Formats: sequence, C-alpha cells, structure tokens
Amino acid sequence: MQIQNNISLQPYNTFGIDVKAKQFVSISSVEDLKHIYSSSDYPNKFILGGGSNMLLTKDIDALVIHVNLKGIHIIESFDDRVLVQANAGENWHEFVLWTLKNDYGGLENLSLIPGNVGTSPIQNIGAYGVELKDCFHSCEALNLETLNIESFDKEDCRFDYRNSIFKQEAKGKYIILNVTFSLTKTNHPLKTEYGAIKSELDRLHVSNPTIQDISKAVINIRQSKLPDPKKIGNSGSFFKNPILTKAAFEKLQTNFPDVPHYKVSETEVKVPAGWLIETAGFKGKTFKNYGVHKKQALVLVNYGGATGKDILDLSQLIQTTILRIFNISIEAEVNII
Ligand code: EPU
Repeated sequence: MQIQNNISLQPYNTFGIDVKAKQFVSISSVEDLKHIYSSSDYPNKFILGGGSNMLLTKDIDALVIHVNLKGIHIIESFDDRVLVQANAGENWHEFVLWTLKNDYGGLENLSLIPGNVGTSPIQNIGAYGVELKDCFHSCEALNLETLNIESFDKEDCRFDYRNSIFKQEAKGKYIILNVTFSLTKTNHPLKTEYGAIKSELDRLHVSNPTIQDISKAVINIRQSKLPDPKKIGNSGSFFKNPILTKAAFEKLQTNFPDVPHYKVSETEVKVPAGWLIETAGFKGKTFKNYGVHKKQALVLVNYGGATGKDILDLSQLIQTTILRIFNISIEAEVNII
C-alpha cells in the first residue's frame, strides 16, 4: 500500500476533471482498508469507486481512497441459478461480460454502464427496463466506525429509483466490499419490452434473442446516444427523471401535449428530464469546452479542460430554466463534490 501526495484525479473520474488529491491510495485488500481506518494518521478521508457518478468541483483536502478490490467468485450453484460475488473494484461492464461468457442471465440490459461493481448498489443503477435490484442478492460492507463487516440483503438496502440506504442514512458510513448477484443459468427471462431494444433486435435480424444478443443491442443503443467517457468526459445522466403528481403532470400535459411520460403508480408520473432539457433548447449546446450532449440532453459533457465549476454552473442554469418554463425542479443524479 503506497500513499502518494498531490495526485491529479483526472484519470479517476469519468468527467475527466483535473482536481488534485492531497493524498491518494489504491486499496487492494480489506486489511489495508481497516489499517487506514484504524490509524489516526489520516483524519480526512474520501472514498472513490469508479468515479463515474461524480462531479469534482474542487481539490480534495483528504486521503482519497481508491477502492480497487478485485475478484469474482461463484458462491453457490443450483440447477437453475447461481450466486456470483464480485469484489467492489471490478469494472461493471467487464463483470457483465464475464456473466455473459458464462451464460448467466440477468445483467445483460445493464451492459456498458460505466463504473465499478462496488458503487452499483448505491444508486441502484438501471437501464433499458432493468435495475440492479432485480438481480441483487446481498452485499458486504465495512462499517467505518466499528470496522466490522456487515451483510445487507435486498430489503436492508431499500432500493428505489436511483436510490438506496447507501445514499440515505448509511451515506458515508460504509464502504461496500463486494456484491452478490442471483443470476439465471437456464430459461433466462428476457426483458425486451423497452422499445429501443426491440427495434435494435429487429435491425440486427434477431427474432429469438439470447442474453448475449440483448447485451449487443444495449451496447449498440448506448454507443449510438451516449458519449464514451474514454473519449468525451461525462457522467451519464446528470439529472434524475422527475416524478410528478398526477395533477401536476396533467397541467404540464395541457401546455405540452406531446410530453413523453411513464406511469410510476396510480398517483405519480415520471417525465424524461432529457425531453425537458431538449425542449428548453439546451440539447447540443456548447459553451467553450463543455456543454450538453448532442444526442442525449440528459448528459453533460466535458470536451477537455472544463472545470467542475463550469459544469456545475451549466447544470444550475438548466435547472433554473426548467423550473421557469415547466415549473418542475430537476435534481442532479451525480454526486457533486
Ligand atoms: N428524450 C428527449 N430528448 C433527449 C433525451 C431523451 O426528448 O435528448 C426523451 C425521449 O422521448 C425518449 C425519452 O426521453 O423517448 C427517454 O429517453 P432514454 O430512453 O434515452 O432514457 P432516459 O429516461 O433519458 C434513462 C436513464 C439512463 C438509461 C436510459 C435507458 C435516468 C436518469 N437515466 O434515461 O441512465 O440508460 O433511461 O434505460 O433514469 C445513467 O443513469 O447514467 C443513464 C444513462
């Protein structure tokens, strides 16, 4: 374990923002993690996973801990399903590819999501009709006060749309060490109801899709609308899709009859923030070296050299404009540091 001083965090956040960490350590064992948390040498600590869901707006005056725990293990295998445990530092998409290579089903719709396994439960990552919670079995996390390892089952995590206990009362109190998924071995239930998947499978002339075909379709869709963080800095969806009361939605629909929407419950309706941002005229807008992605308005991009403050100011301009035009508050999905 090597502690480095004054390190640029640019390679460690997908927005590619160049801020400095006062100290930095990459952790590959739970023992090292416990050592750091039991020592009085590092009073300020900051935990970094895949860096794919954060906007860094300032230097970090702390020891930045890069969770780099690796390993994938089969915990238990049954006739029809398998419990697979992946350590927190595994890259999410590489893990999904591993499951597909072994013909384990469940995560195919979540292909190509940036980030690491350990941070996936925090915001219950989701895409194309599937959320992490659908395959989640349990996770183990280090309690940073007691230094005991605690296990969380699905109920403990209180998953919701882009939300979990780790974003609420457990925030900052744990480091997730590993996640166990319950995946299918046979008769994989396929989730193709999300419109874009069906049309992409048609385009690929696939009528009886396998989980690998669905992954391919999702990869194609994502690559066609979402910028590759290796080429253009971004953090995926910058905002959450707002959930409106039925009454508020009906009022919106009177003024904007074409507004796309999804029913959440008998009393709530979700509206795509991407549509609101596009309708407000921001899609594809570029300001100096940053802006709003031209193919998906929900994604803010750093074309190179933008600061976290630039992106934050843009996000606030979008928020106030959306509030003025539609009377809707949209909330950032990424963590602003
Ligand atoms: N739309 C627009 N303009 C845009 C973008 C979207 O009008 O620029 C409208 C369209 O009507 C479209 C609808 O929004 O039909 C939905 O768009 P899309 O399918 O791209 O999904 P989204 O609601 O914008 C969510 C997730 C994405 C996820 C996709 C697919 C959130 C905050 N975002 O986006 O997640 O990939 O669904 O399931 O829920 C991420 O979290 O980083 C992310 C990319």
